[in-house]
Amino acid sequence: MSDAPDRHALYELCVQSVEHLAPLIRAIHRGDPKTLGEDFAGTAALSYRWVESSPEARAIAVDLDEEALRYHGAHDRIDRRVSDVREINAPCDALFVGNFSIGYLHTRAELVGYLRHARSRLGETGVFLCDTYGGESAFTLGGVHRPHPMPEGRICRYTWEQQSADPTTGMVTNVIHFRIERAGVIEHELFDAFVYEWRLWSVPELRDAMMEAGFASTQVYAKLADAIDDEGNAYVEPVTDAEEELEDSFIVLVVGRV
Ligand SMILES: C[S@@+](CC[C@H](N)C(=O)[O-])C[C@H]1O[C@@H](n2cnc3c(N)ncnc32)[C@H](O)[C@@H]1O
Repeated sequence: MSDAPDRHALYELCVQSVEHLAPLIRAIHRGDPKTLGEDFAGTAALSYRWVESSPEARAIAVDLDEEALRYHGAHDRIDRRVSDVREINAPCDALFVGNFSIGYLHTRAELVGYLRHARSRLGETGVFLCDTYGGESAFTLGGVHRPHPMPEGRICRYTWEQQSADPTTGMVTNVIHFRIERAGVIEHELFDAFVYEWRLWSVPELRDAMMEAGFASTQVYAKLADAIDDEGNAYVEPVTDAEEELEDSFIVLVVGRV
C-alpha cells in the first residue's frame, strides 16, 4: 500500500484550480496588477501560481495556520505571514479570499470591519474578490462527490458535504473527506479532513457590506470555469441578467472596486 498522501496535497488536487484563478483575477482587475494579497491563504497555492505568471508578480499570503502556510518552501517574491487577516496592512493591487473563507466572519460587524481593512490595503485601482455559493441548494444537506486521477492508477474520491445548515442564522457546517482507491480497493480514507463552521453570506449581503465598507462599486462574476480559453486566458463580464446567467445553484465571485 502507498504512503498516505497528506490532506493539503489532496485539497490542492481536488478543491483548488489556481491555474484558472490567476488569469481570472487579472481579467477582473482590468489593469496590470502586480501584487496579489491572498487572505485565508491555507497553503498559499494561488500565491505560488501568481508569482510564476510574471517575473514582476509578488504575493502576500496570510493565514493563522502556520503548518499550512509553511507547507510549500520559501519563495523570494512571496511574503507569508502567520497572522489574523485583520492584523496585516501590507498593500496589494488585488486581494483574494477563496473557497468561501469569507464565512469565517460570522457577524455583520466582523464582515464590514474586515472589508474596511481589506479596502485600506488596496490602491485606487484595487479590487477585492471573494467567492460564495447560493441558489436553491444553498441550505440543503448532502454531499457532492468527484473522482480525481492520481499517479500510479490511483483515484482520489473527494466529497464535499454540507453537514448542517441553518437558514435562520446563515450558519453552515461544511466538511471535506478524501478516499484513495486503486483498482476498486480503498487504500486510505481521510474522513473529516477539513471541517468548517461558516456563515454563508448571500451575494447581496456581501455587496451591501462592501459598499458600507467604502468600496465604490461591486460586481458579480459567474460561470467562471467557462471564462478560460484553451491557452489559459480569461474573458469575463459581470452578471447583468441573473435569470439568464446564474444556474439554480451557483458559485460566484463577488468583487468590490475601490
Ligand atoms: C477554506 S481554507 C482556504 C484555503 C485557500 N485560500 C483556498 O482558497 O482554498 C480557510 C483558511 O482560513 C484560515 N483562517 C481562518 N480564520 C482566519 C483568520 N481570522 N485569519 C487568517 N486566517 C484564517 C484557516 O486557517 C484556513 O487555512
